Amino acid sequence: MISQSLLLAVLASAQAALAAPAPVPQGQEATSSFGPDVQVSASPVSSPSPYPVIVEENGYTSATYHGPYTGTPTTTGAVDGPTTLAASVPALPPNPTATYYNADGVPKNAFPAPYVPAGGLGTNGTLPRYMVNSDFDFESIALGLYQEWIELDLFHDGLARFSDDDFTAAGLGDEARSLIEFMADQESGHATLLTNMLGEAAPKECIYDYPYTTVREWLDFMQRLTRFGESGVWGFINHLDSREVGQLLAQSIATEARQQQIFRQMSGLTPMNVWFENGWPQSWAWTMLAQYISYCPAGTTRLAWQNFPTLQFLNNANINRYSPNDTATDGSENVGSRITDPSVSNFTTGNCINLNATGYGCGPSVAHNKTEPLSFPGKQVMLQWEAPGKAVGPNMSYVTATNAGTPKFVAWSAQLNLTYSPLTVTGENTGYTYQPYAAVYGNDGIINGTMAVMLTDTDLFVTPFNATMLNPHIVALGMYQAG
Ligand SMILES: *[C@@H]1O[C@H](CO)[C@@H](O)[C@H](O)[C@H]1NC(C)=O
Ligand SMILES: *[C@@H]1O[C@H](CO)[C@@H](O)[C@H](O)[C@H]1NC(C)=O
Ligand SMILES: *[C@@H]1O[C@H](CO)[C@@H](O)[C@H](O)[C@H]1NC(C)=O
Ligand SMILES: *[C@@H]1O[C@H](CO)[C@@H](O)[C@H](O)[C@H]1NC(C)=O
Ligand SMILES: *[C@@H]1O[C@H](CO)[C@@H](O)[C@H](O)[C@H]1NC(C)=O
Ligand SMILES: *[C@@H]1O[C@H](CO)[C@@H](O)[C@H](O)[C@H]1NC(C)=O
Ligand SMILES: *[C@@H]1O[C@H](CO)[C@@H](O)[C@H](O)[C@H]1NC(C)=O
Ligand SMILES: *[C@@H]1O[C@H](CO)[C@@H](O)[C@H](O)[C@H]1NC(C)=O
Ligand SMILES: *[C@@H]1O[C@H](CO)[C@@H](O)[C@H](O)[C@H]1NC(C)=O
Repeated sequence: MISQSLLLAVLASAQAALAAPAPVPQGQEATSSFGPDVQVSASPVSSPSPYPVIVEENGYTSATYHGPYTGTPTTTGAVDGPTTLAASVPALPPNPTATYYNADGVPKNAFPAPYVPAGGLGTNGTLPRYMVNSDFDFESIALGLYQEWIELDLFHDGLARFSDDDFTAAGLGDEARSLIEFMADQESGHATLLTNMLGEAAPKECIYDYPYTTVREWLDFMQRLTRFGESGVWGFINHLDSREVGQLLAQSIATEARQQQIFRQMSGLTPMNVWFENGWPQSWAWTMLAQYISYCPAGTTRLAWQNFPTLQFLNNANINRYSPNDTATDGSENVGSRITDPSVSNFTTGNCINLNATGYGCGPSVAHNKTEPLSFPGKQVMLQWEAPGKAVGPNMSYVTATNAGTPKFVAWSAQLNLTYSPLTVTGENTGYTYQPYAAVYGNDGIINGTMAVMLTDTDLFVTPFNATMLNPHIVALGMYQAG
């Protein structure tokens, strides 16, 4: 139990490295948020930049307290608009202007200028404005900023928490640790960028409650966390009103994608086993992220997204087993029951971390072949899900919710697809399904990698640009470890 005074001190020190973002002068947003930010330098605060750097990366290590929230929530639930107009968004026919088709490859319209084919958004000479431009944009980028803050703390935390010997035992030497330090520093730039695109109501850094106790579990947790960070952005980036914000966000999420792959490699997973990365609605990412935030400073901007109940895979593959099908079926091989908790790593029999055998070893490596896959089509997947109404997230001030009816299907979201398998219910909030097989193109099996899986009340057909239409039908959400 953390004392109130210690907590306030920790919250204050977590904020100490932060300078308040300068107010954005009206009409000058374009320059205040772009360009010089990216010069965040490793040298002390003698930065020549006149623009605010929100975090000096060398001024931040990791908070001195990590752990659960022990207080009483003072507010509960997602933030609402002034009114809510309908229970869900109705499906409509195609946009009447979405008709362009070019059968012969020759331009059809007058060029605005030489070498400038007609069309595009933000291409007619208007001055860019690198600021969110709607509630949708604000809530999406604010979610992204909550994500950047936890990454800044999390990547530093393992470096601070584990000893050189711990790292050596996990197969990571000095150079690998330097790379993680560099990735942690990247987060200071990402947090700065997103803060500037939001303005003064940007969410602040919080205190986090992590699930891992070993280097290996930390790496595994990071490959899961960066998966929801990355996919959470791909899901909304092309729906943003502000193309300018989308531009800068894409340039930061390209980095996040590299981080995800590097953490996979350090976790001994196949670096990439899909042809396409999946995009997720914001509420999926927020559901996963919120469970690891324990305290936020007073006045931290709240989010509008939904927190779904957790779906657990009781035999989610243990990535540290050379025969992952031997993973126990009672959920005991995840370190806890939170949604993206890593695989247990500290067992001896059947552990592949120090095994030097092609197809079986899973120590840090550029690439690994898996003779026995982490999961496979036809695998019986044992499920358990929570009832809604559970307090989660910062200061336990959000509440899990679902609008869906009785669960009937398991929805597998990966690559360009969302595919279903039937659910067999075996008890109150328990059941099973079999991992389905289908391919995107050629022999590229849809279900692979670290992915989102849901219980749903119907098998609604959705595609990458309208996946949010599934949200009203989701009973519970989980993260599945395929491979
Ligand atoms: C320029 O394009 C934007 C959309 O990108 C549009 O909203 C605006 O009206 C256009 N301005 C002019 C002068 O055509
Ligand atoms: C969270 O709890 C801490 C400790 O009680 C408090 O200082 C802080 O203001 C709370 N944050 C919010 C956003 O309510
Ligand atoms: C996986 O384990 C289950 C339960 O022990 C067993 O029935 C099944 O045959 C195994 N499948 C493979 C592909 O090893
Ligand atoms: C693994 O670590 C956990 C958490 O520290 C501990 O409770 C458990 O006893 C350990 N198991 C083994 C086999 O060492
Ligand atoms: C792994 O095994 C190969 C072949 O037996 C050997 O060349 C290599 O040195 C071994 N690597 C380690 C880290 O033991
Ligand atoms: C790794 O797997 C690929 C594809 O299945 C296979 O072609 C290759 O021979 C394997 N390499 C080793 C060293 O096992
Ligand atoms: C997966 O998505 C691709 C691209 O949209 C599509 O061609 C394919 O039919 C889908 N497969 C399934 C099984 O849904
Ligand atoms: C998953 O990816 C791995 C690595 O590319 C591949 O060997 C395996 O066949 C894939 N699994 C499925 C079900 O497609
Ligand atoms: C989502 O879009 C696809 C077209 O890509 C359409 O067939 C499907 O009906 C849409 N789903 C919903 C729920 O609107």
